[in-house]
Amino acid sequence: MTVNRFWRLDRHPHGSDFAAALSLQTETLAPLAEGEVRVKTGWLSMDAGTRMWMSPRTDGYQPPLPLGSKMAGLVLGRVSETRDPAFPEGALVRGFGQWADYATMAPGLAGLEVVDESVADIRQHFGALGMNAWTAYVGVKEVSAIKAGEWLVVSAAAGATGSLACQVGRNLGARVIGIAGGPDKCRYLTETLGVDMAIDYKNEDVAARLAEVDGGVHAYFDNVGGPLLDAVLPNMAHYGRVAVCGMVAAYDNDAPLPGPARFDQVLMRRLRIEGFFIPDFLHRGAEFLPTLRQWVDEGRLAVNLDETEGLENTLVAYDRMLSGKAVGKVIVRVGGDVSCQL
Ligand SMILES: NC(=O)c1ccc[n+]([C@@H]2O[C@H](COP(=O)([O-])OP(=O)(O)OC[C@H]3O[C@@H](n4cnc5c(N)ncnc54)[C@H](OP(=O)(O)O)[C@@H]3O)[C@@H](O)[C@H]2O)c1
Repeated sequence: MTVNRFWRLDRHPHGSDFAAALSLQTETLAPLAEGEVRVKTGWLSMDAGTRMWMSPRTDGYQPPLPLGSKMAGLVLGRVSETRDPAFPEGALVRGFGQWADYATMAPGLAGLEVVDESVADIRQHFGALGMNAWTAYVGVKEVSAIKAGEWLVVSAAAGATGSLACQVGRNLGARVIGIAGGPDKCRYLTETLGVDMAIDYKNEDVAARLAEVDGGVHAYFDNVGGPLLDAVLPNMAHYGRVAVCGMVAAYDNDAPLPGPARFDQVLMRRLRIEGFFIPDFLHRGAEFLPTLRQWVDEGRLAVNLDETEGLENTLVAYDRMLSGKAVGKVIVRVGGDVSCQL
């Protein structure tokens, strides 16, 4: 009988009070149903979008998590039990499971896949080869349709998705402007990621800085929504594109927010605004991965990993991610038999 610890969503959180909303529980693992796979968690991915799943809103891209259920999230680990021959015991896999020592998944629903063990650091399956990287690639290359020499603005630019979007833009020949909170993050953007301009939205006038770009910005990879979107819209070039990736400024609101206030600029500047959702692109992974892998191997795509030790410390890691305390990708090492091949 194996004991499993898991995080349970007990109530909808107010703001960032996650400790009052989630609790660490234990259970004895039940036998697998036909077709299910059980994964011993190596690492958990902390993703801003999951904040929405904790809210009672029913108009999101998926229904809210019912109260009393296990908290869901991306898991990287090894198959410990299986009733699906495509996922043999011991295989290294990634998929949507639970914040738990053991995640039980129906492979189709979980988007479960066997991942390549030959990468130097397998945690990069949550980094430069992970969902955030796919999101950055699709959002910059296809949705924003960036061309070499054009100006690309990225918000939450020092986070997981944003830092990858900056690098994808740079690798495609764009001139990149990153918006992030605080001088340290801005230094990271210019000195480590090599962006052309960094704007500290907590201490600078974003609209005034963007107005320095002669002719306006051609594309905006928007991770944030809210006031930053209003600062960008009047500074777009004619026929500019906005790739709506996320709205982290609004995820802790239980009701929709009005806006954007500068929607008029969509007409005045003939803009195209398009939302995109990476699970819609999962079937195209084989197409994206070779390019991402090549960039990783050439040292042109990397993510700083911000790792917290222990399932019991998951809420600390989650807060680090959402409140902007971390640079790059926030992950939790849960341990078990997954060896990190550094
Ligand atoms: N469309 C998709 O399929 C898809 C897939 C993956 C991720 N996303 C989206 O990508 C965005 C980033 O997600 P992530 O998981 O990579 O998280 P992340 O960027 O690693 O962490 C969230 C970041 O958001 C910034 N932030 C928080 N509140 C903010 C606010 N009010 N105004 C401006 N910035 C704020 C913080 O950076 P600062 O210190 O700079 O404030 C923080 O580092 C989210 O909106 C998420 O929903 C979308």
